[in-house]
Amino acid sequence: MELSTTIKPVGGQDEALPTAAPEPAKKVFLKTYGCQMNVYDSQRMGDALAADGYVPTDAIEEADLVLLNTCHIREKAAEKVYSELGRIRKLKSERAQAGLETVIGVAGCVAQAEGQEIIRRSPVVDLVIGPQTYHRLPDAVRRVRSGEKVVETDYAIEDKFEHLPQPRKAEVIKRGVTAFLTVQEGCDKFCTFCVVPYTRGSEVSRPVAQIIAEAEKLADAGVREVTLLGQNVNAWHGEGPDGKEWGLGRLLFRLAEVPGIARLRYTTSHPRDMDDALIEAHRDLPMLMPYLHLPVQSGSDRILKAMNRRHTAADYLKLIDRIRAVRADIAMSGDFIVGFPGETDADFEATLEIVRQVRYAQAFSFKYSQRPGTPGADMGGQVDEKVKDERLQRLQALLAEHQREFTVQMIGKEIELLIEKPGRQPGQKVGRSPWLQPVIVDETAGEIGDIIQVRIMKAGVNSLHAERM
Ligand code: SAH
Ligand code: SF4
Ligand code: F3S
Repeated sequence: MELSTTIKPVGGQDEALPTAAPEPAKKVFLKTYGCQMNVYDSQRMGDALAADGYVPTDAIEEADLVLLNTCHIREKAAEKVYSELGRIRKLKSERAQAGLETVIGVAGCVAQAEGQEIIRRSPVVDLVIGPQTYHRLPDAVRRVRSGEKVVETDYAIEDKFEHLPQPRKAEVIKRGVTAFLTVQEGCDKFCTFCVVPYTRGSEVSRPVAQIIAEAEKLADAGVREVTLLGQNVNAWHGEGPDGKEWGLGRLLFRLAEVPGIARLRYTTSHPRDMDDALIEAHRDLPMLMPYLHLPVQSGSDRILKAMNRRHTAADYLKLIDRIRAVRADIAMSGDFIVGFPGETDADFEATLEIVRQVRYAQAFSFKYSQRPGTPGADMGGQVDEKVKDERLQRLQALLAEHQREFTVQMIGKEIELLIEKPGRQPGQKVGRSPWLQPVIVDETAGEIGDIIQVRIMKAGVNSLHAERM
């Protein structure tokens, strides 16, 4: 689930800009690594900085502030930061020679995990800021500009979301008709391989009213599809306006009432938090898209136990049966780890077996990476890198086969398509199917934001081609 995006530049006036006569606009270059929650966080950091007069730029050499929003999930992800900082060091000294000041900040999960150590290892860094303190970002940048090195990695007592400005309409419009909305953060599950409980802290749910207000703001800017985010999004809970305790299922029903919103999704879920109300939402709420990312990690009960997943392979399969019983067309997506400590050939075969049973439409698979501070890192029976490579290849070949099967069976089907943006080729537009597949149509098929009825004509490698009905 790794992706790397750059927040696009903003143009023109924006409602959140201060009214006091501003100094010439400063530019911020934001680079995002890791999961969708980081993508969302980068957007919110952009919002917070805009209130201080910063405008985004795509050109790092023009940036007065460079922010890397980092991921700590696997060693490779974390190491990317240091190679990027190496390049940035050169850039900063070139700019300094031209008399330009550049503030270098590291945010995200590496910032939270390594704190001060980042500045020790990479003195070019001026600012280290963890995910729980983004509302303090503008102030932290000001402190750096007056000569301090700043490390902000406390778990803030105040609610970050209450202190972050609302998403800005102009920015939301620029990002398009689909949007992320974080409703839950952190994790109390402590899977033995995973750093998230340490980098994101314990599970916190945003209040209902805050979520609805943000969804309305998004809808007002033309957003048609909202994806609710959380490290354990289906653990979300909160008090509803009716005074009752709500779970994610109930929240989805409420969000479905927001005028303008036509599609809802949520990610990532933990199998242990799929409650009846959420499964019923898949049955009764057509706006909830038939796609579910439900990581299982391994098909071996022994390994699941060592991972502290606290469910068995059979529990997982039973759960999927229940979901498919109410929503037959649901596409399943999953995450897998190969080579967890102690994983034998037989354990790995069990993973292949669960994959064969579920037949995932989409999947992400990784070699186990030893993460400092997690129980897995100190376990005996660490698996040889070569064995991990072989297992990953076999698993990915099987997953790819199923994925292809899922794509090809779309041909001839009539589906609803949300048109998202112009296509890469002239004369085309691209949208998403309910199953999250990119679908290419002729540009005359409809306007961006329209939901149209199409027939799938053919399947390319990464996308489908369709004609308007
Ligand atoms: N909260 C989600 C997962 C968040 S991390 C869940 O519980 O499923 C995203 C994915 O990264 C995980 O599902 C897992 O497959 C992978 N991952 C996490 N830690 C890892 C590690 N140490 N080595 C390899 N993959 C890892
Ligand atoms: Fe990590 Fe497990 Fe929490 Fe997911 S549930 S974020 S894998 S500890
Ligand atoms: Fe990475 Fe942090 Fe997300 S470790 S996967 S950016 S929660």
